[in-house]
Amino acid sequence: MTEETVSDTASDAVATGPLVSLKGVDKHYGALHVLQDINLEIARGEVVVLIGPSGSGKSTLCRTINRLETIDSGSIAIDGRPLPAEGKELARLRADVGMVFQSFNLFAHKTVLENVVLAQVKVRKVPRAQAEATARELLERVGVGAQADKYPAQLSGGQQQRVAIARALAMKPKVMLFDEPTSALDPEMVNEVLEVMRSLAAEGMTMVVVTHEMGFARSAANRVLFMADGRIVEENTPDAFFTAPRSDRAKDFLSKILTH
Ligand SMILES: Nc1ncnc2c1ncn2[C@@H]1O[C@H](COP(=O)(O)OP(=O)(O)OP(=O)(O)O)[C@@H](O)[C@H]1O
Ligand SMILES: [Mg+2]
Repeated sequence: MTEETVSDTASDAVATGPLVSLKGVDKHYGALHVLQDINLEIARGEVVVLIGPSGSGKSTLCRTINRLETIDSGSIAIDGRPLPAEGKELARLRADVGMVFQSFNLFAHKTVLENVVLAQVKVRKVPRAQAEATARELLERVGVGAQADKYPAQLSGGQQQRVAIARALAMKPKVMLFDEPTSALDPEMVNEVLEVMRSLAAEGMTMVVVTHEMGFARSAANRVLFMADGRIVEENTPDAFFTAPRSDRAKDFLSKILTH
């Protein structure tokens, strides 16, 4: 049996398991124990919102899921496969795990269209004409179809962030990670980005979202995880979490963010 057959069989066998699985994950930055025994399973189509105080490890946790950060111990699997360490397999994993950051990270010297085309051609080996068609369709879907031939700097922050989402979607990811995607935006642009995320969630995309937008968490999340000091301290449905947080850390956190 070839190696390819073995892995295909393996992926068939796990197609019903969790899409993202973290088991006993630990990470240190020097003396700082930034992730402490993280155990987390995310089902297909589930939307998980990650909240918690600054420095609690939310971004680090997201970044370990597509291996932008390595871990010290424990294991992480996407769709039943352990995260590859390097090479082509890692590039493929990165394509399976879309990530949208606070800063838009678009290529400044490429047009909006080219930003969405590029990785499809380079990583997914999609023929250019097909990649362009997909890019136009996705730009249309996030409401910036008319901006395709402009450069990122000619767009508003909200438009740029929607392009960043389209770019990630162009890779046909299995899961999308959003790390404070609206934090750098002017208030009037926040909603246009949240709307795109809401419709993605409604279409069944598996999502991990770090956000301070509690309205989004309440309306779109299946589950809220509250992190403090590198641990998942509490997890619950949004309703239960926001109306009756159990831990003092969560109560304290919510009283601060919900009253400001
Ligand atoms: N590359 C790094 N080297 C050393 N320490 C780091 C590094 N990246 C993050 N840290 C530290 O790890 C801790 C967790 O950081 P992280 O960015 O994951 O927190 P966060 O919950 O996302 O916070 P915020 O809400 O401010 O974005 C912080 O104390 C931070 O200073
Ligand atoms: Mg962060």
